[in-house]
Amino acid sequence: MMSLERSPLLKCLQGMVCLLILVVTFKIVAIYVDYFPPNFSADFLIGRKPEFYGSYQWAFYTHILTGPFTLIFGMILLSDRFRIRFRRWHSRIGKAQVALILLFLVPSGFWMAFYAQSDFPVKLGFATLSVVTGLSAALGWWFAVNRDFHLHRLWMKRCYVLLCSAVVTRVVGGALLTSGVESEWTNALPAWINWIIPLVLFEIINRSTTSQSALPRQNKASLGTEAFRYVKSNKTGA
Ligand code: HEM
Repeated sequence: MMSLERSPLLKCLQGMVCLLILVVTFKIVAIYVDYFPPNFSADFLIGRKPEFYGSYQWAFYTHILTGPFTLIFGMILLSDRFRIRFRRWHSRIGKAQVALILLFLVPSGFWMAFYAQSDFPVKLGFATLSVVTGLSAALGWWFAVNRDFHLHRLWMKRCYVLLCSAVVTRVVGGALLTSGVESEWTNALPAWINWIIPLVLFEIINRSTTSQSALPRQNKASLGTEAFRYVKSNKTGA
């Protein structure tokens, strides 16, 4: 039976997700005309003038300049084809990715979290997202250094899912806006559900694909053990 990991349906889904990430990243960057120089009548910057020229502008520009790179780099790094064909580039881009996330994106996101124009649960949601994203990048890096590539890939995938919360936020936000369901509670939700739900979905899909692909490996391993026992018992005449 074909494993779920190799199924054409999953490959097609992966392609569509990549396309969505690229389109949304492009749309995010297209809005930057309002940020260079800051236009305080633009959506995100409305009402932020008083705090903007303090430490916030440093966090803000660091964040918006590094964010799109982490989305593109992550997509390249998760490609098996790219990793197999360009091992060195995988390692170089991977180091750049970890540095961008740990030194720039996560600290700036954490700082900005406390300036979010919302209640404390929203601020806490963004701050928690920063911490878990930083942790998964650090763990992914740690396992690569220790040559545990299974765990390295797992944590880097988790990290990418968390980075994609930026994409999910825009997609869900856009959908809520067009459907007219926007309200007080829908404003608070993105800070939490836009990364928790994708993470839970990832864990479910990951578990089902790994349990399927582990099955043949397990069978092969037990077959090997059986064969070894058989040869040994024949030799000893047991
Ligand atoms: C996963 C880690 C991330 C965290 C913790 C984070 C956190 C934040 C926070 C707290 C804000 C301000 C929200 C507000 O005040 O309402 C923000 C805004 C922003 N973030 Fe992130 N972010 C992350 C990833 C990304 C990524 C990967 C991108 C890539 C494009 C990105 C792009 C932006 C942009 C452009 C803004 C400005 C608002 C806008 O134009 O929509 N962020 N982020």
